[in-house]
Amino acid sequence: MTLRLGDIAPDFSQESTEGTIHFHDWAAGQWVVLFSHPADFTPVCTTELGYTAKLKDELARRNAKALAVSVDTLDSHGRWVADIEETQSVTLNFPILADPDRKVATLYDMIHPNSLLNLTVRTVFVIDPDHKIRLTLTYPASTGRNFNEILRVLDSLQLTDHHKVATPANWQDGDDVVIVPSLTDTEEIQRRFPKGYRALRPYLRLTPQPNK
Ligand code: BEZ
Repeated sequence: MTLRLGDIAPDFSQESTEGTIHFHDWAAGQWVVLFSHPADFTPVCTTELGYTAKLKDELARRNAKALAVSVDTLDSHGRWVADIEETQSVTLNFPILADPDRKVATLYDMIHPNSLLNLTVRTVFVIDPDHKIRLTLTYPASTGRNFNEILRVLDSLQLTDHHKVATPANWQDGDDVVIVPSLTDTEEIQRRFPKGYRALRPYLRLTPQPNK
């Protein structure tokens, strides 16, 4: 099944390193970063899961939590966690789904056989508290992901859900944002953006981030 932005993230029940996860119940009003890795005991994946563990507080500040998945067994995950913790100097603080029956991998189309036979590629789904898919990313096995980018997208989504703005290229939290082109009412613009704005073009209007 092809999952697209705005679709409801499919529900599932699957075993994890923190017990059985009933996905929609587990998500319970939070943002979720659901991400697959190709295989346990591989170098790039070890760094990715270690780095994600270090982001726990940053994710929590954004009402978000991580959930990893691969087609390895629970026993394999358990043994690998010890390696992640030792080599990356972290305590693994989020669950890893054990998906040897490929239930989750199939639901989320995480196996791309022409790229990596029988293993999940590096996908990321950012899922909002209404279980809607808000971001999808797919990376090749040879390239570790930039997890700071996931935080940046969470910041952008959470800002733009509540203000009539969008975030420009390479935007970081606190930078100027753009006013959505559909907003043209002068009084509403003044009310929403009391600090004013710079119009480089009628459709390109920059304003200080409204929630700062
Ligand atoms: C890795 O995590 O290093 C990796 C996994 C699968 C294929 C290539 C690299």
